[in-house]
Amino acid sequence: SFEVQIASTGAVIRVAAEQSVVAALSEAGIEVQMSCEQGVCGTCLTRVLEGTPAHRDMFLTPREQARGDQFLPCCSRAESARLVLDL
Ligand code: FES
Repeated sequence: SFEVQIASTGAVIRVAAEQSVVAALSEAGIEVQMSCEQGVCGTCLTRVLEGTPAHRDMFLTPREQARGDQFLPCCSRAESARLVLDL
C-alpha cells in the first residue's frame, strides 16, 4: 500500500493494495471525475506535485509518463511511499 496526500488540505489517505486511488479518495469524501476507469480516456487526469507515480494507463505518452508530474488515479499507483496530489 501507499499514501496520497491532498495538497490543498494536507489530508493523508492510505491506498490499500486491492483498492484504486480513486476509490480511496472517494472513501475520504474526495470525488475525482471518472469515465472509463481503465486508464484510456484521461478524464481522471490529476497533477502530481511530489512522489513518483507507477503508471498503469494507456492515455499518457511514454514521455509524459516519464515526467511523472501527472497520473491517472483510476488505475495508476505509486512507486514512492507517498504521492502529493494537486487536489
Ligand atoms: Fe478514464 Fe481514468 S477514468 S483514464
